[in-house]
Amino acid sequence: MANAAATANGDKSETRVTRPSFHLESMNSQKKRVLFVTSECSDFIKAGGLGDVSSALPKALSSRHDIRVLLPGYRQIVNAGHEIRIVGRMGGHAALPACEVGRIDLADGLIVYVLLCAELYERDGTPYGDERGHDWPDNHIRFARLGLAAAEIAAGTAGISWCPELVHANDWPSSLAPAYMAWRGQRTPSVLTIHNLAYQGLVPMECSPELGLPASACSPDGMEFYGKLSFLKAGIVYSSHITTVSRTYAHEITTADFGCGLDGMLRRKVDEGLLSGITNGIDDSWEASTDRHLVATFDCNEWQGKRANARHVEQLFSLDRDEGPLFAVVSRLVQQKGIDLTLAIAERIVAAGGRMAVIGRGEGGLEQALLKLAQDHPGRIGVNIGFNETDARRMFAGSDFLLMPSRFEPCGLSQMYAQRFGSLPVARRTGGLADTIEDGVSGFLFDEADPEHYFAAVQRAINVYQHPELLNAMRCKAMASPQFWAQSVDPYDRLYQRLLKNAARQLPGAVARGQA
Ligand code: ADP
Ligand code: GLC
Repeated sequence: MANAAATANGDKSETRVTRPSFHLESMNSQKKRVLFVTSECSDFIKAGGLGDVSSALPKALSSRHDIRVLLPGYRQIVNAGHEIRIVGRMGGHAALPACEVGRIDLADGLIVYVLLCAELYERDGTPYGDERGHDWPDNHIRFARLGLAAAEIAAGTAGISWCPELVHANDWPSSLAPAYMAWRGQRTPSVLTIHNLAYQGLVPMECSPELGLPASACSPDGMEFYGKLSFLKAGIVYSSHITTVSRTYAHEITTADFGCGLDGMLRRKVDEGLLSGITNGIDDSWEASTDRHLVATFDCNEWQGKRANARHVEQLFSLDRDEGPLFAVVSRLVQQKGIDLTLAIAERIVAAGGRMAVIGRGEGGLEQALLKLAQDHPGRIGVNIGFNETDARRMFAGSDFLLMPSRFEPCGLSQMYAQRFGSLPVARRTGGLADTIEDGVSGFLFDEADPEHYFAAVQRAINVYQHPELLNAMRCKAMASPQFWAQSVDPYDRLYQRLLKNAARQLPGAVARGQA
């Protein structure tokens, strides 16, 4: 008890651990201890929206809970110049190597635990693969290690003098956290947030011994999925509750069209009240009147700054400087994002007097096709293959419209960022796009994933562009519409409280102590 209380008071001697005391303390404390397990965090490294959420959501929840992040110790984190104190260590398991846990205290107060294991994580590239976009062949080991580390921290066996009362895992890379907890008989409740059902972490059944799985894991009631092992299915099977990142996507994934073969299972979770949708928010750095990344700031009463950002984007992408509408694409270049649809209508956009600036990286074929398009339309279409946060912000600020014809979109953050910076999204009515864009008010939506319906929406956007008063009214509406994280905090808080209450009821002796 003494150690736990000392830690709560700021004593950082994390290695003096006594396990049982944490559970006692949790009964009394208002703020619950939550371990947020993730493979990306935009404070250090991100590949997409998961990184943004993994930074912003824990910070938004920190007023209610003692929420800490667990991340693999990628090279970009270890070399970022933060002080890292070693606060825990754990032995190996099957082919998962031993590792240490370091602690970073960010200036804004967020505590981040980094899993230090140079052989697994200290590589150049993205969290998932090399610089050419090829996935690392040992990703199953890398992310099983992450899941097991979370389970060990939750069990109090990692030597850390802080023990979560709830574990919140995200996507397939941390999905084995609830699974290892279940296989080891741990009772800590867990949440799995599905940011994208299409990435499942599928590995051959033969990997089972490397991961040290129990026999039950390899059955259809465990993580077996059509003869393979599915990390994501493990998270779905073994977590106490599943959330996904918008209300519409929560429904979509229970249908055959979007369920990626897991829809039957997810429908059963809905029936049991174990699946819900909580729409993502965005953090308050997305403010056009103050953002220092912008070439010039602006607001609804003064568009001069928006024009300055447009001039900058024109230069960056070698675009003609004229009065035609400027369309932006800021995206991972993958099938999900409907980039092929944008390729299919690009010439019509140019013919209608539009210009297009694209930043993205991803599938080689899409990268090549975009580069060819830019080559064929100098001055009208510019393409940068790469990932650059500052350029992305300036593109949201400088463009008139953001193209986001996603085939599916669990939530989508780019459309909300664009809205905040007065760029109206033209997007498919799916997932979070349907939930965050009001058609004809804060953007333009279309239904069918084909070039005709898509271009019809683009044409509506161009029509609005020709009526500056209408355009500005829509911009102002869009700038005021996206939700900040504060609005998503309540639903997560209620979920955590409910799961913790259920878990307390199930503790042995709970009835005798009057907690049932
Ligand atoms: P997803 O997570 O599916 O990629 P989201 O819209 O949720 O889609 O989040 C994408 C995030 O990644 C946004 O923050 C967006 O600005 C950013 N992003 C995507 N591609 C790039 C890029 N090439 N350069 C900079 N930022 C990018
Ligand atoms: C995923 C989804 C995206 C969502 C993001 C954050 O990458 O593709 O739609 O916004 O996660 O939840």
